[in-house]
Amino acid sequence: MNWDEKIADGLAEEGIVVVDEFLSMPEVREILSLPLFREPENHMRFAGIGHGMERQVNEAIRGDMIKWLDRRTAPPPVAAYLSRIESLIQYLNRNLFLSLKDYEIHATAYPPGTFYKRHLDQFKRDDHRKLSVICYLNPDWQSQWGGQLRIFGAGEPRDIIPIAGRLVCFRSDQIEHEVLPATALRRSLTGWLLDQLSDLRKL
Ligand code: OGA
Ligand code: MN
Repeated sequence: MNWDEKIADGLAEEGIVVVDEFLSMPEVREILSLPLFREPENHMRFAGIGHGMERQVNEAIRGDMIKWLDRRTAPPPVAAYLSRIESLIQYLNRNLFLSLKDYEIHATAYPPGTFYKRHLDQFKRDDHRKLSVICYLNPDWQSQWGGQLRIFGAGEPRDIIPIAGRLVCFRSDQIEHEVLPATALRRSLTGWLLDQLSDLRKL
């Protein structure tokens, strides 16, 4: 079974799916060797909460650093990931009858000790984020380091370890989640599949 099919099936059945080795280790290492991830403090900024004019940094809620990726200037290893996401969008539109039109993805680094409290990915006044898609970039991640993605559902919360190459995709309007603090730098590509063109295109 290919990844797109597995992701579509998981979303249809449960609203969330985890696939391992979506990126191979060589692909992960190429991305990690980019200046963006080698010196995150020089390329990323602390993420805000809220949207547009309401955006503010609040480290009691989230402490990660991000950089929005620009598909026009993305270096090859990032461009390769973006084209995988573009084919996933085509597949989901055809097979789940979604009308996804665009995506927006940022590079993410959680410095040790930072976290992201429980939340939903849709903004209060903007519900164009339909699916959240996160790919982790942490080779040899140890579970005792923390940093799990905690998913809240009907039963017990489910914890997902951010190991390299693993992709998590879930319904942005339904799945509440949080990022637990870690003792090591936690890196990922974090994005959303949208039902309209991304505001980033206006930048
Ligand atoms: C987010 C988020 C989860 C993760 O950026 O909105 O919830 O595992 N990320 O990084
Ligand atoms: Mn989130």
